[in-house]
Amino acid sequence: MTQKLSLRSDVSTFRALDNLAAVNKRIKAGEDIVRLEAGQPCFGVPEAVLAYAKERLSLDKLQGYTDALGMQLLRARISAYVHQRYDVEVDPGRIGVTAGSSPGLVMAFLAAFDAGDTIAVCTPTYAAYMNTLKALDIKVVEIPTGPETNYQPTAELLEKSGQKFDGLIICSPSNPTGTLIDEAELQKICQWCDDKGVRLISDEAYHGITYEKPAQTALKFSKNVIVLNTFSKYFAMTGWRMGWITVPEEMAVRIKRLSESLYVSPPTISQHAAYKIFDHLDELDGYVAHYKANRDILRDALPKAGLTKLSAANGAFYFYADISEYTNDAESFCRAMVDEAGVSCTAGVDFDPTRGNTTMRISYAGTAEDMHKAADRIGNWLSTSAKALRA
Ligand SMILES: Cc1ncc(COP(=O)(O)O)c(C=O)c1O
Repeated sequence: MTQKLSLRSDVSTFRALDNLAAVNKRIKAGEDIVRLEAGQPCFGVPEAVLAYAKERLSLDKLQGYTDALGMQLLRARISAYVHQRYDVEVDPGRIGVTAGSSPGLVMAFLAAFDAGDTIAVCTPTYAAYMNTLKALDIKVVEIPTGPETNYQPTAELLEKSGQKFDGLIICSPSNPTGTLIDEAELQKICQWCDDKGVRLISDEAYHGITYEKPAQTALKFSKNVIVLNTFSKYFAMTGWRMGWITVPEEMAVRIKRLSESLYVSPPTISQHAAYKIFDHLDELDGYVAHYKANRDILRDALPKAGLTKLSAANGAFYFYADISEYTNDAESFCRAMVDEAGVSCTAGVDFDPTRGNTTMRISYAGTAEDMHKAADRIGNWLSTSAKALRA
């Protein structure tokens, strides 16, 4: 007899990851593709961090479990870093180390909401939010944002939406748009959430990768906020799977218990590497200078190539491009671009199920040479194919 599959596990495909796997395969088979689809740094950890991790491995072959919320040493180091970066005091007892920020997201949702509660996400947004919420039987309301608010929510927009929700997720700098919520607005959003009893989750995955102004943490403005951070972006530790979650004091014990039962503990060797990486922030800032140079290359070249409607891109390593003058089927557009021009981007439907068919995400975490090559190829392709695309 056929056995049941749960309804809640029937979440959408994470197209960006499918796309990543498909492009990997094509490049392995010898195709010449410039990658602007991947949401990960082109750098690894600094050499000294690698050497330290190797040393730890040779000193301790067991690499057993650590405390569920991570090594005390690392939690204290993260707390010191938060103080240094934002001038905000956070007790290490409120910090949990996670295997990337993705498990932190699951724990945040589990600790703050029940099945049937409603969370607002501001589209375009990181695809995993909606998929994870669906899998946890939490309802989603979309708050659409556009260029007029820099693809970010404002307290006014939340108020005007007229929607009722128990939680709100924000992400600044944003994936997929690279835009930021400025400090004054962030304070207003925190205040609005506190006034309404809405639990705010601030995904600060791309903090550290900002070009004009640093991003401010929501921890500064509310004691009720849950903040998610990762070592995958600024710290360039993507495959080491390291992140951290900061929760309100009264939630810390819940996070500990959830972590014990869901994940036991984060990877031990990666925690050692994460601890060490805080000694090498200068090198990481060098990576950021590289992304900024890439951003500048594309910001100059893409409009000349025919992509004129780009997000502000003041952080992360993404542009969000409005391609409505070329298509209303972003997936086909991106497929044609990789097949015919040899440039890979991610279709906007991943980030905005309702409006994403006329947008795409461009990641500039690669080499400077690739940025020039991509802009040339896109320019040639659009100038020869644009009419056919529109037809
Ligand atoms: C906004 C945002 N949050 C969270 C994540 C999850 O990253 P990780 O699990 O590697 O920390 C990503 C990854 O791309 C992201 O873009």
